Amino acid sequence: MDYRQAGLLFPHGLRRVRLTSSYSPDLLDGLIERVYRQGDRFDAVLISGDLATTGKEKDLEQARSCIDGDASARWYSSHSFGKPRPEIGSHRALKGAGRPILLLPGNHDRYRSSFLSTLLLRPFPPGGTLFDEYFGHYWKVGQGVQGWISPPKGDARLGLVSADLSLRENEGKDSLTYSYLGQGKAYEDVIAELGKLTDELRADYPNLGLLWIVHFPPKYPQNKDFLRLLEDETLIKAAYKKGISYVLSGHTHIPRAYTATSSDGSTVEVLCAGTAAQVVALEGNFIHELTIEVGGKGITSISFQSFQWYEAVQQWVQVACP
Ligand SMILES: [Fe+2]
Repeated sequence: MDYRQAGLLFPHGLRRVRLTSSYSPDLLDGLIERVYRQGDRFDAVLISGDLATTGKEKDLEQARSCIDGDASARWYSSHSFGKPRPEIGSHRALKGAGRPILLLPGNHDRYRSSFLSTLLLRPFPPGGTLFDEYFGHYWKVGQGVQGWISPPKGDARLGLVSADLSLRENEGKDSLTYSYLGQGKAYEDVIAELGKLTDELRADYPNLGLLWIVHFPPKYPQNKDFLRLLEDETLIKAAYKKGISYVLSGHTHIPRAYTATSSDGSTVEVLCAGTAAQVVALEGNFIHELTIEVGGKGITSISFQSFQWYEAVQQWVQVACP
């Protein structure tokens, strides 16, 4: 298990692993400041999961404080590979930028704190529910499906249907590996719910362009087993059947735009975001801007622009998606 990739290990400078400190406050500040400065250009800000390092109260409180600014959690001084970094920026909360914020949980957000599991060397079992308490005003459906419809532009609207495909409580109990920490699963009932809500929204809103959002990208190229979306063909086939052309995701830390193809030839385009604010991001930190064109028959095109954080200039710089 690569704990750095999983975001579990805070690097040098501390005597013990600090599970609550896996993001860089400086980077997050840079991200939030961008939304404050350029927010008028954005119809919404989407956070594609793994807001918190674990689903423990302190981690969730910390994550929510960065978004809502309503908790007492404090910003950590960050270190990058042992090199102290000065704290910068205003530490404003994302919500203050005044843009709609859409989010869904990832596997980290649902890690449970279980003394017994830790004793049995099965730390952080899945299926935590504290996320729903801390972020219930954004995510209302537990391990289910939620939709969002944009205000109209002309006679068209954008719809985002998000599904939580993180593992359920009992998954991974009998596994001899720690794969349960990084895997998700396209459960048939959740995928059916995705399809059902898609049909309902299309019936309610004419000229609707619809995207699906899941934390775990299906058929991510050269993906490691411990980061896989199990049963991912269920998702691809359902998207294809429903005429969903694009799925947005995150999770793997490295951005990538690719076509996911199932064994029966079903396809869907996947736009996978990189990690935005992880403190140890060996492949870099990324955010993305999507420009989505909606026509009479749904989405006609999407441009996926990637921006990488450059430490030297303390800015997001546009780059080609890897
Ligand atoms: Fe993840």
